[in-house]
Amino acid sequence: MYKIIRYFLFKINPEKAHHLTFSLNKFLFRTPILNLIPKLIYSTPKDPVTLFGINFPNRVGLAAGLDKNAELFTEFSQMGFGFIEIGTLTPVGQPGNPKPRLFRLIEDNAIINRMGFNNEGVEDAVKRLKKNKGVIIGGNIGKNKVTPNNEATEDYRICFEALFDHVDYFVVNVSSPNTPGLRELQEKKPLLEILNTLQSNALQLKNPKPLFLKIAPDLTNDQLNDIIEIVQESKITGVIATNTTIDRSGLKSESAMVEGIGNGGLSGKPLTNRSTEVIKYLSDNSNKSFVIIGVGGIHTAEDAVEKIKAGASLIQLYTGFIYEGPALIKDITQKLKTQGL
Ligand code: FNR
Repeated sequence: MYKIIRYFLFKINPEKAHHLTFSLNKFLFRTPILNLIPKLIYSTPKDPVTLFGINFPNRVGLAAGLDKNAELFTEFSQMGFGFIEIGTLTPVGQPGNPKPRLFRLIEDNAIINRMGFNNEGVEDAVKRLKKNKGVIIGGNIGKNKVTPNNEATEDYRICFEALFDHVDYFVVNVSSPNTPGLRELQEKKPLLEILNTLQSNALQLKNPKPLFLKIAPDLTNDQLNDIIEIVQESKITGVIATNTTIDRSGLKSESAMVEGIGNGGLSGKPLTNRSTEVIKYLSDNSNKSFVIIGVGGIHTAEDAVEKIKAGASLIQLYTGFIYEGPALIKDITQKLKTQGL
């Protein structure tokens, strides 16, 4: 069934297809009687797990970037996701990079994007999050494009405070390749400043919220060693590994076509092994001292099993969800359950 829907969606420009599916899902899920259809088709597969103080209905989450503005989190949870990561949100809304900025590499089961944190701003998302009825939400936060790196901490703090009462955990995103200079914040000094500021703010509040750092798959082992030290030193809850890659090696798609697309982050199947490798490296070299959420190229239940075996406690989907549809959530949950993971 999803293959048929995908056939038509993939005939449309990717960003238009994104807006069309958002509109159709809003219509379907929010119209009386019609909304019985998704209720009959979907259910949240049950495989509950409690981690860092949160009770997750299952281990499969929606990765950041799809529901940037917190518009469809209820519907995504009804499709089966155990948790939804909204964002990346910035203090002030911004349009992102010029279009076209979203491309499919169908032969590779992949996407290239250079969206550039297009979002309506954190306060706009808060309005909708106030209506949340129990969906577990991660708040993925970033800095505005116009904010220089030496003032980035303030942007993260603004988003953190605005979202504090409305999300279950936070993610500091310093790993998008599409905001100029952002990845430089993965260096030890600026990163510790951001994480320590947010951690000390969180700890002053009566119910501290778990804080995660989202990292790029393009870090060297030395840089990953630094990340381990930073996470341990700042005592944050853990790491989300990984964001999209700037690497283009080993693609099946025609190289002229890939070059023609230009800059951007690559996600999907070509990222599967590298992101699992990063998870395993972090897990093996940290004495498992922090939580890892695994994301990157999960297109089958087996891919998810590998992420969990590598050391991830939860997993997230983006590109695999676009290519395989909501049935993937159920497949993964069932496989993890039958394997006792
Ligand atoms: C993303 N991703 C992303 N991540 C993030 O932290 N903030 C963001 O705003 C976005 N935006 C975004 C847009 C698009 C179009 C894509 C495809 C991806 C990265 C995403 O959350 C995930 O980390 C990677 O895509 C790797 O997982 P998949 O897609 O291979 O499952």
